[in-house]
Amino acid sequence: MAILLATDFGDAEWAAWWPALQAALPGERLLRSLDEAGGADGGAAAIDVALVANPPRGALAGLPRLRLVQSLWAGVDKLLADPTVPAEVPLARMVDPAMNEAMAETVLWAVLSLHRAHFAYARQQRAHEWRQLPQRRADEVNVAVLGLGQMGRCCALRLAANGYRVSGWSARPAAIAGMPTHAGDAALEGVLRSAEIVVNLLPLTPATRGLFDARRLAMLPRGAALINVARGAHVVDADLLAALDAGQLSHAVLDVFAAEPLPPAHPFWSHPGVTVLPHVAALTDARSAARIAARNVHALREGRALENVVDRARGY
Ligand code: NAP
Ligand code: GLV
Repeated sequence: MAILLATDFGDAEWAAWWPALQAALPGERLLRSLDEAGGADGGAAAIDVALVANPPRGALAGLPRLRLVQSLWAGVDKLLADPTVPAEVPLARMVDPAMNEAMAETVLWAVLSLHRAHFAYARQQRAHEWRQLPQRRADEVNVAVLGLGQMGRCCALRLAANGYRVSGWSARPAAIAGMPTHAGDAALEGVLRSAEIVVNLLPLTPATRGLFDARRLAMLPRGAALINVARGAHVVDADLLAALDAGQLSHAVLDVFAAEPLPPAHPFWSHPGVTVLPHVAALTDARSAARIAARNVHALREGRALENVVDRARGY
């Protein structure tokens, strides 16, 4: 049997992933395309595992012996939305402590930058303006982390360790020592009403798409800030821009967008209240992720339970 790598990798990504996967999966037949498999059926019957990262639509269709789809990305919203990805084959997502750490670094940077007014000072510098703004203590700043999964939990703990007043929100009740947590739709308004900085680490599902619309943004205290490091479609762009223009929000740090790359004419690029990152909050690290993907391949081969299988009904 063989492992199909179905990705949109460019040369630089292949240079990192190919040696990492070969080292993690010795003795396995790794194919970058079906053509490499050969055979009368075009190689389809040779494939029992697909390792995927933004696979081209249709890349996983017509593989009769496929038994595992292992995502090299944490978020699987695009895979679940693609009807050509076989729904009966287990789909596992990437859960890598190295990615959680990277996300915690990005979120800590963004929260510190908002709290200590570094984005405001950057604007002042561009205007040659010398003005000292009030300095607050970290334990005076309320931060809400939406989504307390692999990344949200790691970020919440990192922020709390840096002195912030952190609260969390998830679908099901979660316990994090020393931190108030809330669960379910009914609790969201209360979480937002007391959050000066909101960090979005929810998966994109039918329940969370468009969560940050005019109504929810209006629940935040005036002058609050949003950090979106999950998925762009969580935000209604026009509503966010209106909230920024009205002063309801003071700033947004956005790493993810409904359309990526962010189109050149999009108003986020030049809005003074928006910091744009090119989807880099937590990149998959091939060195560790290849080993994690290999663990599931070995589990499949040895008949053990797969790790991090996506619950298709929940959508994450
Ligand atoms: P995860 O482990 O699946 O955690 C998801 C969390 O969201 C869980 O706590 C879950 O609650 C909660 N949740 C889901 N639906 C909810 C709802 N309707 N209401 C309230 N809470 C809800 O996901 P993760 O690994 O932390 O990743 C989070 C997201 O980050 C990914 O889906 C991806 O979109 C994004 N991401 C971004 C980057 C980047 O570079 N920007 C990198 C990696 C991932 P329960 O615990 O109760 O289930
Ligand atoms: C990146 O956004 C990921 O889901 O891994």
